[in-house]
Amino acid sequence: MSAKAPTHDKTTMKCPVNLGDVDLFGPGAQEHWYEAYPILHKEAPVHRMPGEGYAPGTDGFILSKYEDIALVVRDPVRFPPTLFVTMENLKEQGTPLNDMKYVNAMMVSIASLRPTNELWRSHRQELTDPWVGPGASRHEAMIRRAAHELIDRWIDRGEVEFIREFARPLPQMVMANVLGFPYSDIPMLEKWGNAQVAAFVYGKGHRNLLSEDQMKEQFAALKEFQDYVAWHIIERRKSPRDDMISFLTQVEYSPLKRKLSDAEVNGIVYAMMIGGLETTQYALEEQAQLLCDNPDVWTTIRNDRSKVRGFSEECMRLRSPTQGLSTRICSQDEVFQGVHVPKGSMLHLRWAAGNVDPDEWECPFDLNVDRKAVTRHLVFSQGPRVCPGAHISRLEQIIAWEALLDRVDSIEYAPGNKFLHQPGIMLGTLELHLRFKKRSL
Ligand code: HEM
Repeated sequence: MSAKAPTHDKTTMKCPVNLGDVDLFGPGAQEHWYEAYPILHKEAPVHRMPGEGYAPGTDGFILSKYEDIALVVRDPVRFPPTLFVTMENLKEQGTPLNDMKYVNAMMVSIASLRPTNELWRSHRQELTDPWVGPGASRHEAMIRRAAHELIDRWIDRGEVEFIREFARPLPQMVMANVLGFPYSDIPMLEKWGNAQVAAFVYGKGHRNLLSEDQMKEQFAALKEFQDYVAWHIIERRKSPRDDMISFLTQVEYSPLKRKLSDAEVNGIVYAMMIGGLETTQYALEEQAQLLCDNPDVWTTIRNDRSKVRGFSEECMRLRSPTQGLSTRICSQDEVFQGVHVPKGSMLHLRWAAGNVDPDEWECPFDLNVDRKAVTRHLVFSQGPRVCPGAHISRLEQIIAWEALLDRVDSIEYAPGNKFLHQPGIMLGTLELHLRFKKRSL
């Protein structure tokens, strides 16, 4: 089954037909990303962006081939993360991170808890894996309850705005629950979550840069969030409960042989919130679109629930929620696909393009729920820096579709969809109106 590009031809942005038309970062670019990727693969698999590097006088390069991106993410020494390079520079200049303007809680905690690749691994294994990694299975019943609670609110209506009424609140409820925040605080958490991801929505160019005014506004909201989390940390130190914040206040972090400070816990909570909300929302939303476009796939997964997992992976491969990030630097001269990339260049890793690379995937634009080894996709990256929340996100998606299949007989687009995508680097429409038939029990 061939998956259409997610444009629905509703955009004013011109569809690229040759390399000169390709601009992945301009206004409205998201409407035609998937028409741009085959052009990049064919004509410029390593696409130079002059003067767009990390340091003045260096260039940026978009990598769109699967093999190049996989090579880069698997070798953090040869291709250090931009964040590490920034921290090294600050250390050399003797500038304490806390004295810097616009440094968020997550960066502060990274500097003290995981400034090296080894500590990065321990951080995941000891601090996040038990909650959002392999240990996320402890949340199964809670996620299922949250999914059904949301469906209860609209199941008798026959229509739903799927993002506002399901795909967005589900990860919000899940992360509130995991961290130990009450559901009644979700509207505030959503406001702060929006501030956290501002650069990925409104930031300019491949580096997602915000203006000074935008940063001021962002950091004012983030200060409120930091204070809110700080209050919860104090409370949980006094009376721990069964939640991730309580765990982080009590745990002995073995590489440092000590407990975590309040600021460090605050930073980890920040990371869970910025990673855990919109990404999964857009995965669910694009999956719903793919089901409307391919009703036979709905029938397939309804008749055989064991295929839900392959369906969710294949949809993420086809419509990667995080399309690309400029997060690695070349520590030496490199050659990718015959193109010389000098030391110091910044790499924009275009996960979404690697996920539809015809040299890696047979019939890359086909939606094939039986595709072999589909989880080798780059949706969550790979290697030592792989997304720490991949497990819980996958669990949320599978449970969400199981719950929807339990309650709904069929879904289709309702009238009124504009299919316009959110600006920035995430792939997802702003609204999605669906019509469905309630399952008769
Ligand atoms: C469909 C959902 C998701 C997608 C597509 C996604 C994608 C990614 C990608 C591509 C990276 C970059 C890795 C690298 O640089 O090599 C990343 C990092 C990260 N993700 Fe996710 N992610 C998702 C869900 C989540 C969830 C649910 C959480 C938290 C519960 C999370 C937390 C993070 C964090 C904290 C990082 C930064 C790396 C770190 O601090 O260890 N993500 N994610």
